[in-house]
Amino acid sequence: MGCKGLAIGMLLLIGYCSTVVSGSIECSPVGSLMAVCSGFLNFGAPEPMLGSPCCKAMYSLNSMAATTNDRKEVCRCLVSLMATYNPNASAVARLPALCGVYLGFSAQPNLDCNSVP
Ligand SMILES: *[C@@H]1O[C@H](CO)[C@@H](O)[C@H](O)[C@H]1NC(C)=O
Repeated sequence: MGCKGLAIGMLLLIGYCSTVVSGSIECSPVGSLMAVCSGFLNFGAPEPMLGSPCCKAMYSLNSMAATTNDRKEVCRCLVSLMATYNPNASAVARLPALCGVYLGFSAQPNLDCNSVP
């Protein structure tokens, strides 16, 4: 198993094993959705195409982030995933826009999720 498989496995692990729950959204679905994009998130390439499995995961993530509180929870999940897995930060920040999705915030490792509108 190469690096790519390992990285995907690690992202899946947090998706399925994460038990930290705060607020109404669980982080494990967020981790599972992000894991669909793990190739791009780890290497910054290739960029996901509209309608690809990765973008479909972003559409699902966007629909989870329907209210301000939900967006904050999704934000917290993304920040904690980034802290754990140290993906390509610019790839994380660009990912939703590449799929035509606007989450209401730009995911960055040091983002203050309380400031999410
Ligand atoms: C992160 O991704 C960008 C493209 O989105 C790429 O240019 C850059 O080289 C990547 N950085 C690392 C450390 O892989």
